[in-house]
Formats: sequence, C-alpha cells, structure tokens
Amino acid sequence: MKIDEQTKQKLVQAAIQARRWAYAPYSKYAVGAAVLTESGKIYDGTNIENAAYPSSICAERVAMFKAASEGERHFIALTVVTDNAGMPCGACRQVMAEFGLDMLVWIANEKGTITRELTVSDLLPGAFTGADLPDQS
Ligand code: THU
Repeated sequence: MKIDEQTKQKLVQAAIQARRWAYAPYSKYAVGAAVLTESGKIYDGTNIENAAYPSSICAERVAMFKAASEGERHFIALTVVTDNAGMPCGACRQVMAEFGLDMLVWIANEKGTITRELTVSDLLPGAFTGADLPDQS
C-alpha cells in the first residue's frame, strides 16, 4: 500500500510527540511509536518501565495494543523514534507480525529523519503466526 508523504510525516510526528511521555527512569532511553491502521487512525505509544524491570513494556507494543484494544486488527505502517534511530526488539517484531506481515516500519531519529524503511517480513523472516497453529475448530 502506498502511503502519501503527508501521512508518513503525520505518523513520524505522532511518535515524536508521544516520546515526550516516555517513562524510562531506569534506562533513560526514551522511545516513541505510532501505528497507522487500516481504518486510517493513528495510535501512539511510549515505553513504560517498571522497578521490576521485566514488567516494562516497549513503545511499539503500547501503540499496537492501544490500537488492538480499540478493535483495530490490521496495521499499515508503524514508526519508532529514538535519539539514535534504534531498531525494534524481538518481542515487538512478533506482535507486529500478528497484525500485518506486510506492514511498513519506519525507523527514525528524534529529528524525524527516517533512517530505515522495512517491512515486518524483513524484520522477522519466517515469522511464527496463527497459520502455524493447528486448526482449533
Ligand atoms: N524499548 C522500546 O520501547 N522499544 C524497543 O523496540 C526496544 C526497547 C525500550 C524498552 C526499555 O524501556 C528501553 O527501551 C531500554 O531497553
């Protein structure tokens, strides 16, 4: 799916804005994310850490879970913003795969410069999906 430049910039700006709300007192690594869904809506997210470290959650998953919990089921594009244009972690890649193997992922820095454009299939080749599970019916 072709996404126009204006929508792309809107998504990047949403992630930059969301990043201001990162709760990262332990790592000090603030992450912002925003996901564009099939319905045309944008959902944002930040990383939210916890004193019990494994209870923390990444920005990408917050954005995707916000969308999914509003009934969204297919994602078109996601952007993640950090100060060093860092890559999404493995757990986030797995959640991305659930809602769109062909989803576009734009990695950007805090200035909004996109440094990498990938698909979820690029990020997680041979992903485990629902298709790998036995028929539950
Ligand atoms: N983090 C994200 O929000 N997204 C990623 O894909 C990588 C890591 C967060 C988790 C933690 O709050 C901090 O960055 C350092 O790992």
